[in-house]
Amino acid sequence: MGGYSFQAENVQICVIMVGLPARGKSLIAQKIVRYLTWLSIRAKCFNVGNYRRLETAHPTAEFFDVNNSEGERLRKMAAESAIRDMFRWFDHEQGVVGILDATNTTKSRRNWILELCRKRNVEPMFIESWCDDEDLIMQNIMDVKTTSPDYIGQDPERAALDFRNRIRNYEKVYETISERDLTYVKLINVGSQVIINRIQSYLESRIVYYLMNLHIKPRCIWLSRHGESAFNLTGKIGGDSDLSARGREYARQLPQLVKMSVGDRPLTVWTSTLKRTQQTAKYLPYRQLTWKALDELDAGQCDGLTYEEIESRYPDDFAARDENKYEYRYPGGESYRDVVVRLEPIIMELERQENIMIVTHQAVLRCIYAYFMNVSQDQSPWMEVPLHTLIKLEPKAYGTEVIRIKADIPAVSTYREKGQSAKIKK
Ligand code: ATP
Ligand code: F6P
Repeated sequence: MGGYSFQAENVQICVIMVGLPARGKSLIAQKIVRYLTWLSIRAKCFNVGNYRRLETAHPTAEFFDVNNSEGERLRKMAAESAIRDMFRWFDHEQGVVGILDATNTTKSRRNWILELCRKRNVEPMFIESWCDDEDLIMQNIMDVKTTSPDYIGQDPERAALDFRNRIRNYEKVYETISERDLTYVKLINVGSQVIINRIQSYLESRIVYYLMNLHIKPRCIWLSRHGESAFNLTGKIGGDSDLSARGREYARQLPQLVKMSVGDRPLTVWTSTLKRTQQTAKYLPYRQLTWKALDELDAGQCDGLTYEEIESRYPDDFAARDENKYEYRYPGGESYRDVVVRLEPIIMELERQENIMIVTHQAVLRCIYAYFMNVSQDQSPWMEVPLHTLIKLEPKAYGTEVIRIKADIPAVSTYREKGQSAKIKK
């Protein structure tokens, strides 16, 4: 897991989601898992609804009535199965942050989970999402609940009505968290107010900070590599070269390409400190910010060499990088893992912002893309990200939509497959 101070803490945290249905709990839980996984912290979500569906696939609202004893029994059973699997995962798969995604709306249910955690020395941390914005709740129901597997094949209007009745049944017994001795974060109306209590470990504070930066306003993120550079033409890596003639052409065409996709939305452009990204963004008529953290992966002693030169001068290094590209650190330079660590503030800021365009470099773009698209560390350093291509990412309730927009300007390929000989394809 390299390089994080919370490793030393050796903690295991059970995050217990709390809140009425359609308050974004699953969305929040999945985002935390994606964020922590990207940072190499073993995290997993255990969704009690999925366990409940094994026995009761299409329940009506009555199933969730507290006076329905059979419903109560089946729901408790589902929670038990999820918790059992979570503890197994803590024990056998070195789990660090397990998230129990359920409503957990009563004190008695929470006390029962607390007991189980304490017996196992797992730190309990509650995340409650509280929301009384009726329009937003209705929107959530229409957006994600009517298409839930619970209502498959049903009329959306009827599904929405039933879901509202389900919420009513939960409301009858809902007790918000107020216990002063518990570790919790309460997000009120999508973070317009955040209450935090007894946050202890560094890892918990990272999770809280992440949650405080999330918003759910619709927005997009555009990514592009810089235009083809002089180094790209000769196959050299790193450096701070200027754009090639074709790279300059991409820079000239970029405003039109961006405008077609962005329309009249406000946009801010982020570049690295290297000339090639700034030259690429030069004609974009938007506010621009420069980030050192967006500079290309530092190739250390290999900076300025071609892959072929690296292969012949440092064959062991060349082979080691192919063996584990994510972990391999160039002598005097960086690994993909190092890049992810320095990109963490960028990701945090991206979560806070709305429409952003990032003009950066191959390795950096792969790492940012991996965060949004949940790409594993095995795969992300090997992803193909061609030059002269604009990538539009649109975060949705579950997952991010991607569109690739290719400019009609040829460029060399800087891509080298794993195990491939070190020749650049023209
Ligand atoms: P259930 O208990 O039925 O599983 P849930 O609370 O897990 O419901 P989600 O399925 O995550 O709810 O709901 C997703 C919707 O909630 C999305 O449309 C998302 O935009 C919205 N959402 C995200 N965060 C919040 C929040 N803090 N408050 C209210 N809604 C939110
Ligand atoms: O070749 C372009 C480039 O941005 C180099 O500057 C950088 O070293 C390389 O790509 C990163 O890609 P990879 O990790 O596949 O070598």
